[in-house]
Amino acid sequence: MNEKSLVVVTGAARGIGEATVRKFASMGHSVAALDVNRERGEALASELQTAGQQVVFHACDVADADAVDDLAARVQRDLGSPSVLVTSAALIPNTESIMEMDLGAHDRMWRVNYHGTVHACRSFGRQMVAAGRGGSIVTLGSINSVLPMPLPAYNPGKAAIARLTQLLAAELGRHHIRVNSVGPTYVMTPELQARIDSGQRDLAKMMKVHALDILPTPADVAEAIAFLSSPAARAITGILMPVDSGWTASATYMTYSGGVPWESDTGSPTA
Ligand SMILES: NC(=O)c1ccc[n+]([C@@H]2O[C@H](COP(=O)([O-])OP(=O)(O)OC[C@H]3O[C@@H](n4cnc5c(N)ncnc54)[C@H](O)[C@@H]3O)[C@@H](O)[C@H]2O)c1
Repeated sequence: MNEKSLVVVTGAARGIGEATVRKFASMGHSVAALDVNRERGEALASELQTAGQQVVFHACDVADADAVDDLAARVQRDLGSPSVLVTSAALIPNTESIMEMDLGAHDRMWRVNYHGTVHACRSFGRQMVAAGRGGSIVTLGSINSVLPMPLPAYNPGKAAIARLTQLLAAELGRHHIRVNSVGPTYVMTPELQARIDSGQRDLAKMMKVHALDILPTPADVAEAIAFLSSPAARAITGILMPVDSGWTASATYMTYSGGVPWESDTGSPTA
């Protein structure tokens, strides 16, 4: 990534994608922000343009391979080929049983979350290879990439994205394109805060399995993405970097009779 590079972000209108747009734009990069949510995407681009930053919004459904290809060609015509791609577009589910789930919704989630990641990595990855300048791709994994959770399509899809990230890292490494994933735990988005406030989510229960007593914000995840795309990470490729407040490190403590250290009197595991 040079001082002024082109960064493409999918799922850019909200949450982690939006925070990523804000981060790279504030660093002086040009950002192409892609999302199906035209209203929010255009409002974000217009806000940042008014602040003197270079952000253009494009409506794009990442589930549609041809649409992503066409848009990539348009972005290249207008702005050149990217040095950084961040794939944040996804549908976020609620807990569901495999026996009961709607198969149409299941297939759509795979199309957006997994296939959408493949489509963006292919269309923009090909441009990065052809440009010969190297670059960075960061996919959005999750703690769902690491362990099973009762979220059909979403959970196995995130495991598949972690493996896809490794395959891309191997395929693109000699083109000096690094491919990594970030794996957030529950991110403190406005939507999560609203669910906590309305009693739909129990924050105390969620915090039981995190070593740190904070949840990451979208900006925390954007910082990790910016690091992975920076020259400081030049020897890092093919990894899933947890941004999980220690969830991966401590989740299995709940199954151990000693429990989590922060709930014992001594601050250490007991039995
Ligand atoms: N929020 C979390 O707790 C959390 C935790 C771990 C991983 N993640 C991952 O981070 C990424 C972003 O999550 P978020 O919390 O910012 O979600 P979000 O719902 O706030 O944002 C997702 C964005 O993707 C867009 N989008 C949805 N379908 C699309 C499509 N077909 N084409 C283009 N854009 C589309 C939405 O319009 C939205 O703007 C996702 O991959 C998610 O799985 C989120």
